[in-house]
Parts: sequence; C-alpha cells; structure tokens
Amino acid sequence: MPPSPSPDRYALVGHPVDHSRSPLIHQLFAKQTGQNLTYTLIDALPEQFETAVRGFGAAGGRGLNVTLPHKEAAFALCATHGPEASLAGAVNTISISGKDLHGDNTDGIGFIRDLTVNHECAIAGRRILLLGAGGAARGIVGPILGEAPKSLLIANRTLERAEALRRDFGSLGEASVCRFDELGDLDPFDIVINATSAGLHGVAPPFPASLVNRSSFCYDLAYSLKPTPFVGWATASGAGTAVQGWGMLVEQAAESFAIWRGSRPDTRSILDTLLRATGGNASLTD
Ligand code: ATR
Repeated sequence: MPPSPSPDRYALVGHPVDHSRSPLIHQLFAKQTGQNLTYTLIDALPEQFETAVRGFGAAGGRGLNVTLPHKEAAFALCATHGPEASLAGAVNTISISGKDLHGDNTDGIGFIRDLTVNHECAIAGRRILLLGAGGAARGIVGPILGEAPKSLLIANRTLERAEALRRDFGSLGEASVCRFDELGDLDPFDIVINATSAGLHGVAPPFPASLVNRSSFCYDLAYSLKPTPFVGWATASGAGTAVQGWGMLVEQAAESFAIWRGSRPDTRSILDTLLRATGGNASLTD
C-alpha cells in the first residue's frame, strides 16, 4: 500500500488564541469534505507576527487564518489581496504559495451569510444601526452597504472613528454617524449590530431601549457560552430576536476553507455540531 500523503498544514495566528474554536471547526470541515489537513494554533505577539507567518510558510504551511491583533499587519505582509481585503484594509485569510502570500478577508461575507441566509434576515431596504467603529465594524461596513440598506447609522463612543468609516466607505453608499449619547430620540431600528468590544469586558451597553421593538433583529458580532451583555440588553429592551455571532464564526471559516481547498462545507450541520460541542446557546431559529 502506498504511504498516505502527509496532511496539508493550516493554522490560526493571533494573540491570544488559546480558546479559539477554529481548529474544531476546520477539523469538522475536513471530515465532512474528506480532506487530509491539520489546523493548529499559533500564539504570536505583534513583534513576532511576521516571523511566525514566514516560518509557517517555510515549514510547508499552506494557509493561515489571522485574528486580533494582526489583521492589519497581515494586510501589509501580503503581496496581493482579494477585493474584500483591499476594501477593509485587513486580512483574515492568508494563502501561502512558496514565498508568495495572498490575503483575503472573509469576515464580511461570513457576517452577511449568517444574517441573511442562516437567520433569513434581509438587509436590503431596512434601517440598520451599527454600534462601534473599530476593526470589527470596518470588516462589515462595505458588505452591509453592498446589500443596499434603506439607511445605515454608525454610532460610536468616539465620533471621529465613525466619521472615518463613513469617509472610507463613501464610494459604496451613504451612512450617517453619531455618538452613543445621541441615540436617545431615534425610532426603533430593523437591525441593530453590536461591533463594540465593550461586552468582552462584561460591560452591559448603556444604549436606550427605544432603539428596538418586537420587529428588531439584534446581532452581536461577539459570541460566548453565556448570553453576551448586548444580547441581554436587546432581550430586556424588547427586541424580537437577539443572536450571537457563532454563525458568522462558522461562515467566515467556511469561506476561508473554500479559498484554500476549493470546496465549501455545508455550514448548517457544522454549526449545529459546534453549538452542541460547546454548549453554546445561540440557535438558528430563535
Ligand atoms: P475591534 O477590532 O474588536 O473592533 P477596536 O478596533 O479596538 O477593536 O474597536 C473597539 C470598538 O469598541 C470601538 O468602537 C470602541 O469605541 P471607541 O472607538 O470609542 O474606542 C468600542 N468600545 C470598546 N470599549 C467600549 C466601551 N466600554 N463602551 C463603548 N464602546 C466601547
């Protein structure tokens, strides 16, 4: 019998990475699509990032996912970029071919797919409120505008960052901006997206309950084994639906896998398996 070929190597590089679900997700993808690969974690500080990427490539690695705080450094390191990465100025997926590094960004498409396909929540023609204007918001503003919402309001604690987002994505569509303390007098929104990192520190956001009603769909880009502070706020404020970003995690991973391997896994069954494995409380049908 011929020896089985050694598996192709992939990894996630970030800091910290120890609690990442990406190895589990990519193992499930590989099993489902019958592919021979490994997916490991690389913890690298910013000053170690380039060496970690080049070293992984020199050792035969085929591709890397990139997470905080390296997505902009990954953009700078890649010689060529896909259109979504160019738009966002950030890379979460590196394809390695010899010494050549190509960067893509699958965060935006992962978010759009989870919201519009898994949750069947259309963006077109709807009033959207995006809370936050940091890196996570930057990854989804372009794809949101690409879906032709009725309006997009970007609210942030620091107004200048929201203005920078509006300016940078102005060619794709119109957005308005405000500070959090200007959200009090607005009608409820169809879709409210939390892209702040406030919840990571367990902070319940001080947003007015009047931002949502029974028709509102609230989406937290963050995910946790417990309800996130934003999901708690949305539910207590009377939003019709409030979900965490588990689906976005799986969808962006599936897009990366498709770029690397040429076949896209069936994400719905993988998401179900992941939620069972983690005990996660985000459901597809709430
Ligand atoms: P990320 O890549 O996770 O988006 P980031 O670029 O540091 O990280 O952005 C964090 C976002 O969360 C920003 O919108 C930030 O607001 P500022 O631009 O005003 O800093 C927001 N944020 C973080 N902690 C917050 C808090 N306690 N209250 C409100 N907003 C907060």
